[in-house]
Order: sequence, then C-alpha cells, then structure tokens
Amino acid sequence: MTIGILTSGGDCPGLNAVIRGAVIKGDRIHHESFVGIKDGWRGLVEDDIEPLPRYDVRGLSRLGGTILGTSRTNPFDHGGAARVREVMAGHEMTGLIAIGGEGTLTAARRLSDEGIPVVGVPKTIDNDLSATDYTFGFDTAVSIATESIDRLRTTAESHHRCMVVEVMGRHVGWIALHAGIASGAHAILIPEVDVSLEQICEWVEMARDRGRAPVVVVAEGFVPEGVEHVHAPRGLDAFGRPRLGGIGEQLAPALEEKTGIETRSATLGHLQRGGVPSAYDRVLATRFGTAAVDAVVDKQWGSMVSLIGTDIESVDLHSATTVLKTVPRERWDEAAILFG
Ligand code: F6P
Repeated sequence: MTIGILTSGGDCPGLNAVIRGAVIKGDRIHHESFVGIKDGWRGLVEDDIEPLPRYDVRGLSRLGGTILGTSRTNPFDHGGAARVREVMAGHEMTGLIAIGGEGTLTAARRLSDEGIPVVGVPKTIDNDLSATDYTFGFDTAVSIATESIDRLRTTAESHHRCMVVEVMGRHVGWIALHAGIASGAHAILIPEVDVSLEQICEWVEMARDRGRAPVVVVAEGFVPEGVEHVHAPRGLDAFGRPRLGGIGEQLAPALEEKTGIETRSATLGHLQRGGVPSAYDRVLATRFGTAAVDAVVDKQWGSMVSLIGTDIESVDLHSATTVLKTVPRERWDEAAILFG
C-alpha cells in the first residue's frame, strides 16, 4: 500500500507532527510506504509528488510550517475527482491523508463522495471545525496572541493609550475569546455577538476611568452592530471565502473620535500561525497522525480523525464540514461580565 499525504489551506503549527506520527506508525506497525504531495491539492492535480521515507520525518514534531508546503488550490477547479484518481493510480496510491481546515476537508468530502479513498485530519488555528473538540494550531495561536497582547498592554500603559488588537479566526471568535480572557482584555469582539460602537466606548471609558490602558481584542470577522457586511477588502479565496482583515484599523479611529482617548491598532496576522507548535499542539497532532494512518489501513474512507473529550475518534467528514463551530453566546457572556 502506498499512502499519499498532503497539507492544504493556511498552514498552522503542528502539521509536521501529524506527518511524522503517520509515517512512523505506518512504517513501523503497518509496513506501509508513503509519498508526500507538494503544496496541497496543487501537487495532487499537477502530479508534484515525491517519496516520503521514514528518515525524512525525523525530529519533525517541534518544527512549525509544513515540510510538504501548502496552497489554497481547489481540486475542483483543476479536473476534480477524475484527475485525482488518475494521478493517484500513477503512483499506485491506495489511500490519501488530507490534513486541512474547513476548505480542504470540504474538498476531501466531495472527493470521497465521488469514490476517492481519503481520510481527513482537522487542522486550523481558527478552531472552527465541528465534530472535533479542538484542532491543533489553536493552542499555539492563542499563546502567541496572549503574549502579544501582554506586550502591547505595557506600551499602551506607558502612553495612557487605548489599544485595539486584531486577531485571526475567520468567521468565529475562538482565538479572540481565549486570548482576550487570558490577557484580561477590557472588551472582546467576536463575529457571533453584535456589539454597538457605543457599548465598546463605554467599556473603554470604564477602563480608562480606573486608570487602566483599555485593551480591545477584536476578531477579524467581527461585524459592528448596524454594519451589514464583514470587513473583507481583499476579495475572495479559491474556495470562494472572503479574505478578512482590517477591522481593527477601522475601529481604532472611531473609538478615538468618540472617547477622546488616543488609540492605536495592531493586527497580529500571520504571526499567529508561525513558529514552533506548543506542547499541547504537538501531542494532539501526533495522536491525529497515528490515528489517521490506522483509519487508512482500515479503509475508513470519508472519515476524519477527531478529538472527543480526551479520546481520538473517527467521525464522518460530512459532520465535520457542514456546520461551523461557533462560540456559544453563553461562553462570551461569561467573559463579558469582566469587560470594562
Ligand atoms: O484559516 C486560517 C487563517 O489564518 C484565518 O484565520 C485567516 O482569515 C486566513 O487563514 C488567512 O489566510 P491567508 O494565509 O491566505 O492570508
């Protein structure tokens, strides 16, 4: 059996640990061989594929990024299942491990529906996939965001300024919620909850009146009350999803104008996806990798490995990709008690 592995969509810390876990277990326990597909679905449809022997994955679990490269190529724009089947046959590939987020796994699900033997592994810093309690990459992103907010707070305090910090997360507010709680933010703005500019100003002024430098954490997908569309000035990606970013820069001058408090904004951007994975993400990613290769050997096509509580389980790709895992209102309410 030759198993193909690809990493697709936005990278995130932990991808290499999945690759290592899958290849070592596949080699040692199942005596399978592997090929590495370059840059996600692009490498598959363009037949850019190389052997991935066990010695190539040594020492990988602590390495950020992905040794296979990634892209946001949509296979359905490049021949779809027919092309994928042809290339897989050329390499005598009997199964595929696709490591990706919502866009990648939706493509994997469609390919599986058309008979391609694929198993999914959920990754994303956004933590927005249903059917798994956590995705690896999220813990690292929250740690980076928290440390950055801590740093921004000291400069804001020196200058008696308000600081608006924009974090990633696409259409859900998990990174903002967790990093905001961890750093003691005075307001956390997420896509799931409507908040007016007046309310944000009230929290900012409350913090200022206590002698604090107000810190507002805003998720890139936040839409202020009364505004119709998410802030996405850079168009759509290959999966037709808006490219987000920039709401923090819009919010900062509006807050400054209404409160009179000098305000700066910082967008953390891709810093949240870079560098070494946290210990938690290395462990989760390694467990996902070893479970994924078991699922391939068992021919559990159309499934995804998933974390349920503390166990790794196998779930249907459909259940993972049809509904986004959003922040429940009560989770934000818990945090909002401490705003201002
Ligand atoms: O899905 C991960 C993510 O980092 C989102 O949080 C963000 O909106 C997007 O990817 C950024 O994508 P790109 O790397 O293509 O700019």
